[in-house]
Amino acid sequence: MEKKDIKWGELGFGYMPTDYRYYAEWKNGAWEEGKLTKDNTITMSECAGVLQYAQTCFEGLKAYTQKDGSIVTFRPDLNAERLQSSARRLLIPEVSTEMFLHALDETVKANAAWVPPYGTGATLYVRPFLFGSGPVIGVAPAPEYQFRLFCTPVGPYFKGGVKPIKICVSDYDRAAPHGTGDIKAGLNYAMSLYAGELAHSRGYNENMFLDAGTRTYVEETGGANFLFVTKDGKLVTPKSSTILPSITRRSLVYVAKEYLGLTVEERQVPFEEVKEFAEVGVCGTAAVISPVGEIDNHDEKIMVPSGMNEFGPVLGKLRETLTGIQNGDVEAPEGWIRKIC
Ligand code: PLP
Ligand code: COI
Repeated sequence: MEKKDIKWGELGFGYMPTDYRYYAEWKNGAWEEGKLTKDNTITMSECAGVLQYAQTCFEGLKAYTQKDGSIVTFRPDLNAERLQSSARRLLIPEVSTEMFLHALDETVKANAAWVPPYGTGATLYVRPFLFGSGPVIGVAPAPEYQFRLFCTPVGPYFKGGVKPIKICVSDYDRAAPHGTGDIKAGLNYAMSLYAGELAHSRGYNENMFLDAGTRTYVEETGGANFLFVTKDGKLVTPKSSTILPSITRRSLVYVAKEYLGLTVEERQVPFEEVKEFAEVGVCGTAAVISPVGEIDNHDEKIMVPSGMNEFGPVLGKLRETLTGIQNGDVEAPEGWIRKIC
């Protein structure tokens, strides 16, 4: 199979429609059999649940080319489970893990020419999503749904590749206590846009959100969880019921303990403690691990000791090990890599 003629190394994080996408419809109480299609548009009622009441949730994962040319995905069973948890909270019919993995395998296989080659630093980002497609005018769950999955080749999430980013503490909250912060609901992202644009207009890459209840603990950014490294080399990551349970973060906790022999603390992190850390980073499927060099909270500027030019040693090693597992250069724990073709 011949790869598409794309300058893989120059890709940013954008949408480039590929040849095929998958869709399945939920009607009369059940999922119909899904199909691949070349059509990247959707036609639906003006009164669809997704358009009126934002009844939608999504996932994000990547396909990688390994050195021997095989195409794999990383822990997609966890994405299937998280989509199920998002769907339950939004009263959207769940997609079984089997159906999710079938859609993933078929779509990635059909788009094999779009999966960036090994060593380019680029990957194929896969976006599964669920939404209320049937009409609903009183506030209620929609009568019909669609499950879709498309992919797009991507490079680094932040401009400048893996250079440390500069972030600021948001004056707006991301997720309420007992709200939807722990699921991947579209609405969580819609309400973060204003704070995100404000941060960008002030020269920041991202926001650091604090807990909405007390505004004292670190939560996450708009699209990634936090990682901190103490001066004595421990990995610390915020524990909260209102952040997204990042699959990257959960994997890194394991890699830190089992591959690198680090001590890991998953606990509440007071914002006051941030200035004490030696390294700061954000992690997620899109972000992988991106180092953070500066954190501003109005007049307070925290310059992270690892600086604005490079990765700190611990986060650098974690990133190298994780991407090595994904690319097949480092042996993966059992069940983490799903070979597609
Ligand atoms: N937090 C938020 C709000 C996200 O959108 C994402 C991205 O999916 C993450 C964290 C990282 O999660 P994962 O590592 O599963 O991609
Ligand atoms: C991801 O990392 O997959 C995300 O969903 C983050 C962002 C692109 C929304």
